[in-house]
Amino acid sequence: MSNRLDGKRIMITGAAQGIGFAMAEAFAREGAALLLIDRDGDLLAKVAEDLQAQGAKLCHAAADITNAASIEAAIIQARETVGDINALVNNAGVNIFAEPLKLSDEAWERCFDINLKGAWNCTRLVLKGMLAGGKGGVILNIASTHAFTVIPRTFPYPLAKHALLGMTKSLGLEYAAANIRVNALAPGYVATQKVIDYWNSFPNPEAAKAETMKLHPGGRIATPNEIAMAAVFMISDECSFMNATCLTVDGGLSVQQHPL
Ligand SMILES: NC(=O)c1ccc[n+]([C@@H]2O[C@H](COP(=O)([O-])OP(=O)(O)OC[C@H]3O[C@@H](n4cnc5c(N)ncnc54)[C@H](O)[C@@H]3O)[C@@H](O)[C@H]2O)c1
Repeated sequence: MSNRLDGKRIMITGAAQGIGFAMAEAFAREGAALLLIDRDGDLLAKVAEDLQAQGAKLCHAAADITNAASIEAAIIQARETVGDINALVNNAGVNIFAEPLKLSDEAWERCFDINLKGAWNCTRLVLKGMLAGGKGGVILNIASTHAFTVIPRTFPYPLAKHALLGMTKSLGLEYAAANIRVNALAPGYVATQKVIDYWNSFPNPEAAKAETMKLHPGGRIATPNEIAMAAVFMISDECSFMNATCLTVDGGLSVQQHPL
């Protein structure tokens, strides 16, 4: 345990696995108290128990970020054990990829409900508490390199991530005077189940994986912990003047015109 996040009471959405879980582990190591949210309640309960056994101070709730009432109930319940939330990580997100003209209205709505409106549902709720508390706060949106570049055949996911970056900039300006910092973190490829599922959507998953590795200047993709450690910095007071902006953590993927 270290203390870079002492005094932070952080809500993380999508915390049961992947980047969200890696952040939960890293934030707990740095002394934060946590409210973990995931719609997969069984998996969340299991990982929360493991973290508590390692000394983490946390509570957890099975809730869907598209259901604002269930998120509000979780925040109210967390007051007893964790206290008022002063940092939020909007991490829960889903890949929804389709050929544009074959995309159903239902899939379009699901993409924006989870990847954009879900983040707004959580943000709106914690902002009220941060403003009432008068001591500022931090909001970190897990965007993607899809927030400013696009991989073909991933429509409409990049649209939602572009909008999430727009929300970051807009809210960062709105609440700067209240000492509330709103930033985005843009991972490239990260070794999580979501990426394995993406590779498995190709006829030859192993070849798709090798292609992905080749795209990266360093020949590999990120581990979830490498994203989590950037998030530790962005939530911490070490990062006190970063606001309304985006930190890219992609091993150089998005600045390279093309691999040689
Ligand atoms: N893995 C990558 O390569 C990568 C790259 C760039 C950005 N991202 C972004 O990082 C975030 C996390 O990605 P990941 O790869 O760790 O995903 P993941 O699929 O491994 O985990 C996501 C978690 O979010 C939960 N979740 C999904 N929808 C939810 C909802 N509506 N309400 C509550 N919980 C919900 C899932 O149950 C799951 O536990 C996402 O926003 C994703 O877009 C991931």
